[in-house]
Amino acid sequence: MLEKINQLINEAKVFEAKLPQNIEQFRIRFLGKKGIISELFKEFQEVPAEMKKEIGLGINTLKNTVLDKITYLKNSLDQISDYHTKSDLSLPGDLLKVGSRHPVSTVMNEIIEIFSHLGFVISEGPEIEDDNHVFSKLNFPPEHPARDMQDTFFIHKTSPYDNGIEDVLLRTHTSSVQVRIMEKQKPPIRTISPGRVFRNEAISARAHCIFHQVEGLYIDKNVSFVDLKQTLLYFSQEIFGEDTQIRLRPSFFPFTEPSAEMDVICKICNGRGCNVCKYTGWLEVLGCGMVDPNVLKSNKIDPEVYTGFAFGMGVERIAMLKYQINDLRLYFENDIRFLEQFTYSI
Ligand code: DAH
Repeated sequence: MLEKINQLINEAKVFEAKLPQNIEQFRIRFLGKKGIISELFKEFQEVPAEMKKEIGLGINTLKNTVLDKITYLKNSLDQISDYHTKSDLSLPGDLLKVGSRHPVSTVMNEIIEIFSHLGFVISEGPEIEDDNHVFSKLNFPPEHPARDMQDTFFIHKTSPYDNGIEDVLLRTHTSSVQVRIMEKQKPPIRTISPGRVFRNEAISARAHCIFHQVEGLYIDKNVSFVDLKQTLLYFSQEIFGEDTQIRLRPSFFPFTEPSAEMDVICKICNGRGCNVCKYTGWLEVLGCGMVDPNVLKSNKIDPEVYTGFAFGMGVERIAMLKYQINDLRLYFENDIRFLEQFTYSI
């Protein structure tokens, strides 16, 4: 009897069905009132006591195998029929909701494109940096406030016991990439470095602890302030429109001398003064200047032979001016009502 039960178990295991009726026939044959299993239980009454345990187990295994098989076959037939309804080629297609590029990415790509027309190539550097690349080699004096905990996120701040180890920090500007490039490349250098920067600032409409910058660096023989001015005028007219005027105001950065800040004319009031430009007629866009000879020297470039200019801009700021966005926080909130306005600028 045991042999017969094992044979039936194997038979149930290999059974296949193409139609629901086949499954039903299988069920009746095994589990029906006069089916195989109920016949086996009848025979079971005659089994000698010492065999009862083994035979009983066999019949139960057979019953479970049949039940599992039925569930399995029903599920697979359901899936097949689902597939047939869903692959009806005459049904209308599913509507795909197209997202949009984030305005910061759009503007970043636009800036890169404009400078690539002038022969600038992209370079990138790490977001986790050391003091040398962010400050020291850019001519920041040791007591400069930007080195303070209040402005910089430190990952490791050295103490007098950390012999020879540098501060490790999140870069506060992409000017650090200038240093990385000068370390590994001889002039001529003509590069832009887009990337994320981090500052220990309270989040408000005008400040954020994470934002994006594009840094520019051009070093060669005979590079002058005129080249800087013309490059920035070209850039401003490309990004803000042909009729854009710029002005340069003297400023200070440790890594450039002379330094300047560039403004563009306020398009809202055409320079007459309004509440957007705080009645000045101008909007501040970026910082720039001639690379300080100290920076060239500390990066082993001879300032007697080479000169260069550098500039750095905030991408969120450029996008704010371009699209008249008045709150920095909008960029980071992922509010679909804000982002949807840029759907067509993919
Ligand atoms: N690194 C400056 C900042 O984060 C921006 C900047 C100003 C970059 C002048 C430059 C420059 O290369 O020449 O505010």
